[in-house]
Amino acid sequence: MTERRSFKWPALLTPTGRGIAFGGDYNPDQWPDEVIDEDIRLMRQAHVNTVALAIFSWDRIEPCEGEFTFDWLDMVIDKLGAAGIAVDLASATASAPIWLYAKHPEVLPVDRYGHTVNAGSRQSWQPTSPVFKEYALTLCRKLAEHYKDNPTVTAWHMGNEYGWNNRYDYSDNALAAFRAWCESKYGTIEALNEAWGTAFWSQHVNDFGEVQLPRHMGGDAMVNPAQQLDYERFGNDMLLDFYKAERDAIEEICPGKPFTTNFMVSTDQCTMDYAQWANEVDFVSNDHYFHEGESHLDELACSDALMDSLALGKPWYVMEHSTSAVQWKPLNTRKRHGELVRDSLAHVAMGADAINFFQWRQSASGAEAFHSAMVPHAGEDSKVFRGVCELGGILETLSEAGLQGTELEHADTAILFSAESEWATRSETLPSMKLNHWHDVRDWYRGLLDAGRRADVVPLAYDWSGYRTIVLPTVIALSDQDVRRIADFAKRGGTVVIGYATGLIDERFHIGLGGYPGAGGGLLCEMLGIRSEEFNILGPEAEDEPAEIRLSNGLTTRLWQNDVTSLAPDTHVIATYQGPEAEDWELDGTPAITSHPYGTGTAVYIGCDLDRHDIAKLVGLLPAFGDEPDGEPDTGMAQASDPRVLHTVRRSTDGTVRFDFYLNRTTQPVELKDVAGEPVLAHRCERGPEAGGYTLARNAVLVMRQVE
Ligand code: GAL
Repeated sequence: MTERRSFKWPALLTPTGRGIAFGGDYNPDQWPDEVIDEDIRLMRQAHVNTVALAIFSWDRIEPCEGEFTFDWLDMVIDKLGAAGIAVDLASATASAPIWLYAKHPEVLPVDRYGHTVNAGSRQSWQPTSPVFKEYALTLCRKLAEHYKDNPTVTAWHMGNEYGWNNRYDYSDNALAAFRAWCESKYGTIEALNEAWGTAFWSQHVNDFGEVQLPRHMGGDAMVNPAQQLDYERFGNDMLLDFYKAERDAIEEICPGKPFTTNFMVSTDQCTMDYAQWANEVDFVSNDHYFHEGESHLDELACSDALMDSLALGKPWYVMEHSTSAVQWKPLNTRKRHGELVRDSLAHVAMGADAINFFQWRQSASGAEAFHSAMVPHAGEDSKVFRGVCELGGILETLSEAGLQGTELEHADTAILFSAESEWATRSETLPSMKLNHWHDVRDWYRGLLDAGRRADVVPLAYDWSGYRTIVLPTVIALSDQDVRRIADFAKRGGTVVIGYATGLIDERFHIGLGGYPGAGGGLLCEMLGIRSEEFNILGPEAEDEPAEIRLSNGLTTRLWQNDVTSLAPDTHVIATYQGPEAEDWELDGTPAITSHPYGTGTAVYIGCDLDRHDIAKLVGLLPAFGDEPDGEPDTGMAQASDPRVLHTVRRSTDGTVRFDFYLNRTTQPVELKDVAGEPVLAHRCERGPEAGGYTLARNAVLVMRQVE
């Protein structure tokens, strides 16, 4: 694994440099200069102490090729600095000026059909274009030279959401780079042929010069899944290299200041393999946009659980979220009363020490004019701006109570996430195209919350050996080494829960022979004490066929069932398929959920998909999630608690102070009894008649402090 950069947190301009960072993307380029003083007046009113600046300002800084002008940016930074507002300065390369594209159209990405995309949006550049890189690095160096000693600039914000618009580039530059990447990965062309299984469909290549990108190949264009998976990795690596080149260009001139780039971790996407990216930043930061509907808070917490793991438990930064509606979905719901504050505090509850929004002032024109902001179209006399001011005050209160720098207490269950499995489950060559690793992680996360237990979400590549239980939902690709780590974990006493499509392939998209799940050369099957031969895939597409099957323990499966045909003598069957639908599909009595002792631990196999509600029921039935075998209650957050609240603990690094966060997960008021500690914040909470009693209204957050 790459060596990780050491943790470095950006200072504020407060006397101590400390405090929870609060602010947003500041785009004064969209406004006449007179608005800036007004902005700063309102920022002070709202307790804003930091902004991310110049993200899309390349054309302001270099209006024509080679003509760099910093007057405007200097003026903005000076005013911010004088007001005590720190600047997270962008490398400004996320959106290149039109003159660059007019002069060098060859930097524009090419889509899989061979069409060159047009300039005019953002990130319209090839990650592998040497011409673009030259321009970008020149800009980085100019910025670094100009601002290296500026005390208001306390962090560097590299690019913006790398890969959002140029993740998939099929240009000739990309082709040449892909060939070089494959050569460096495989060494010999035989190794690549073997890994990609090119004996299939006459795909054998004689040398690296014959290797192709997975460009559009005609109507029946199923791409070789191993080639596609490598292309995903390659795209990730090219953008990471680009980020590093930009970071290094600035760091050479301006060493010592912390670097970040905003990730896009939410459970509907995982654009990059952030387990790698997190090693290359000084503090991790994320852009998170809420899911409308009843999954709102849970989804946020699940995404944040991965962020906390990427940060290795250190505080992390919310670089962007929204005060209310976004403008890029088919239907954009606004936030309800109290949700602006609740969402921000939910991020804090999950370990964030910085709360920022896209963007400070809502645009009056352009593609994002209907996206909410901290100062809405309606101006300062508005519900949203009042919410922003309230939040600024709350964050100051939490800072004063000593919250900053405390760390999220970990659960004893880890749900493992792998970006590679996420990419692999998108392949159109699998038994079902409805697989989605991230969604299964989210279902497990929510199912555990429903059962009153909180889990962490940890990258497969990281160290999860200290957990008591690991859950692998649809971690479809497992290398031999991964399987060995998992089996060792069980052997040493851990509980492993393997989901229905986990370990179907290895990292080369090869299927292990002899029975499913075949990853690890049979070791996975051995650990689980089962072997399955086929998959039963259900869905409404199979007309007039039963589309769900009941299990003997009352649960229901709807998409996928493994035909488990062999069991080890010591495998315990927890549930079988049962009833007329099971009979119809010839599964009646077939094991659906099993448990097998392995070493001093246990390996549980869930051979079928379950929805979140059934996962919650199953969690209640499995000893793996129960109390310690010796009867001692669990320590840590996995201890069963009230499923109506999300309860987290942040603790000072010396262990003496703890902050308990309670967030209402429901739409109804929740009564809590015997809540320990002194209240630091009671947002939408009322004290009950008894000591320690609170009523949490919808969107409520209660924060209690205890010295231990
Ligand atoms: C982010 C992006 C911002 C803005 C925002 C709107 O993805 O970084 O610049 O576009 O989305 O939600």
